[in-house]
Amino acid sequence: MEIHNKAILITGASSGIGRAVAVKLAAKNNRIAITARRRDLLKEVAAEIEAAGSECLVFAGDATEAAHAEKAVAATSKRWGRIDLAVLNVGAGPVSNLTRASAESITDCMRTNYDAMVHFYVPLIRQMKTQTSECLITHINSLASYFGLPMQGDYTAAKAAARIFLETARMELKHFGFNHISIQTIHPGFINTKPKKDALPRPGELSTDAAAEQILRAIASGKPEVRFPFGTAFATRIGRIAPRWLKTFILLKAARKSY
Ligand SMILES: NC(=O)c1ccc[n+]([C@@H]2O[C@H](COP(=O)([O-])OP(=O)(O)OC[C@H]3O[C@@H](n4cnc5c(N)ncnc54)[C@H](OP(=O)(O)O)[C@@H]3O)[C@@H](O)[C@H]2O)c1
Repeated sequence: MEIHNKAILITGASSGIGRAVAVKLAAKNNRIAITARRRDLLKEVAAEIEAAGSECLVFAGDATEAAHAEKAVAATSKRWGRIDLAVLNVGAGPVSNLTRASAESITDCMRTNYDAMVHFYVPLIRQMKTQTSECLITHINSLASYFGLPMQGDYTAAKAAARIFLETARMELKHFGFNHISIQTIHPGFINTKPKKDALPRPGELSTDAAAEQILRAIASGKPEVRFPFGTAFATRIGRIAPRWLKTFILLKAARKSY
């Protein structure tokens, strides 16, 4: 998809990858709606977007609440008559330990990484079905969605659920003839968005800016699934076909004991 003069919605745009993508898209004469909980940070991003020449709408709210997503999608569609591109980026991968995690912390992670995506997906599809020109929903997933990782169990489960959900949605849109709507899942490896206390090393870590560049390229390519950077994506591919005992051995060697 050409990303000029588009009506765009980006969730989780107050910091990290979402913010970097929003600012990069602002240089391309787009109209950009941004969401997240921290209104003060969203206002800073909006100022950057407007300074770069794009119009901006701000929706502060919690993506784990369906009403916030409904409102943001409805108001954006009303203002610009359509949404050409939605970048669903809300997510967080807190370190966890499934030998003593609470049910609440595990389902919280599912709410942030899965429910938040679904809350936007539903009204977006409803809106995009009324449009006739090409439109795209891009979900920022993770290479972590392909198999369980020690100390990231709830995150990997939520991201895997999102990957499978959107894979199915892609098939059904085609089956029911909504060929103007595309679904894309982008799987980044480690991105240096903030200092993290992960239980795993972060091989091939990219800067937030480099990740945003890759995401823009992925959107332009229109490919249904994109994985980057190459080295980590390749290692993930090998991990998917490696014998379970070998994968477990390697992952546990890398995992810290202190969580
Ligand atoms: N960093 C990595 O290494 C990496 C690797 C692969 C994939 N990813 C994925 O990339 C996406 C962005 O991550 P990031 O590293 O850029 O993290 P980040 O800097 O913490 O950004 C997360 C964004 O999501 C928003 N958000 C979180 N929970 C929310 C909620 N309940 N309601 C509304 N907004 C919410 C945050 O804004 P507020 O706090 O203001 O609400 C923020 O704007 C995530 O989906 C993550 O899983 C990250």
